[in-house]
Amino acid sequence: DKGNHRHFMEKEIHEQPEVISHTLAHYLDFAGGVSRKLDLPFDFAKLDRLAISACGTAFLSGLIGKYWFERLARLPVDIDIASEFRYREMPISPDSAALFVSQSGETADTLASLRYCRKADIPIGAIVNVRESTIARESDVTLPTLAGPEIGVASTKAFTCQLSVLASLAIRAGVARGTISPEKERKLVRELSEAPRYAGQVLRLDRQIEKVARELAHYKHVLYLGRDTNYPLAMEGALKLKEISYIHAEGYAAGELKHGPIALIDEHMPVIVIAPHDRIFEKTVSNMQEVAARGGKIILITDKKGASLSSVETMETIVLPDVPEIIAPIIYALPVQMLAYFTAVFMGTDVDQPRNLAKSVTVE
Ligand code: F6R
Repeated sequence: DKGNHRHFMEKEIHEQPEVISHTLAHYLDFAGGVSRKLDLPFDFAKLDRLAISACGTAFLSGLIGKYWFERLARLPVDIDIASEFRYREMPISPDSAALFVSQSGETADTLASLRYCRKADIPIGAIVNVRESTIARESDVTLPTLAGPEIGVASTKAFTCQLSVLASLAIRAGVARGTISPEKERKLVRELSEAPRYAGQVLRLDRQIEKVARELAHYKHVLYLGRDTNYPLAMEGALKLKEISYIHAEGYAAGELKHGPIALIDEHMPVIVIAPHDRIFEKTVSNMQEVAARGGKIILITDKKGASLSSVETMETIVLPDVPEIIAPIIYALPVQMLAYFTAVFMGTDVDQPRNLAKSVTVE
């Protein structure tokens, strides 16, 4: 039932404050200010590496997870697209563990990668939304996302719930590995607890985002740029836009701009820049200057500080609330999803059932 929404995708975007809250509460004790103990088949303190593997949007949540595990827990992460992981014969350390991320829990390549790790005899965890799935069953521990059924083919709420689990796990790992003090843990847990409220605020930017989408629907090519955890989000934005609006889009690390994609920049290819004000914001501003100097049109997704400090003229600036760094990937996922959604609506595509795509990819 879509309720009073036009599409399941719209409904699922709007469910995010609630399902993020449920998912976080499963892993974090907000009142106590701590991450909950998990019954894991490995000890984070003893791991030398963590392998993460998944497909599509789930892969991109894993990529953001890598930034968190490495930064917060000093745990090196090898992240792969499952269809590459299963064939590339990477050496698997006996002191490692593997995490698989999947909404459906049935994705063929992700399952094959899990079985590859099973053969290598390392402990396996699965972040899944469908708890009765094959990937859940075959893993040593299931780490559920509590997103509820996701009907729209384009993944939205499952993605932000995967991020919620990964952030919580990274905190757990940091506590176990001694890189997160009790004070820092309390601070991070408090910051994460604020994610649902901020997500709700971002949903109220729908009018403005719809207006931007109306413009975007006129273009054939779109480039998304971001640094750090906004780089996977840039790729997620491009993936979402191409799969439901059929507009060609690419997501790049902003620092890669001058290593190739800058050749494409002209007034016919808008550039969506995902850049909250952070320690590398200035670097992204210089990328925007490079785009502007070539007649490129910029749509900037940032916060108040970013909007005031960016001296570059934009086609539109979407200003989000100032949010703590740990929750920025969760909060910035929303405008990215909304932009793709409204653009597809303007294009008149079948938003919930885009052509050629299936909700669960059980064939290779
Ligand atoms: C994108 C999308 C796909 C899935 C991918 C993995 O919106 O939905 O890229 O993320 O097919 O699916 P799961 O998570 O079911 O393994």
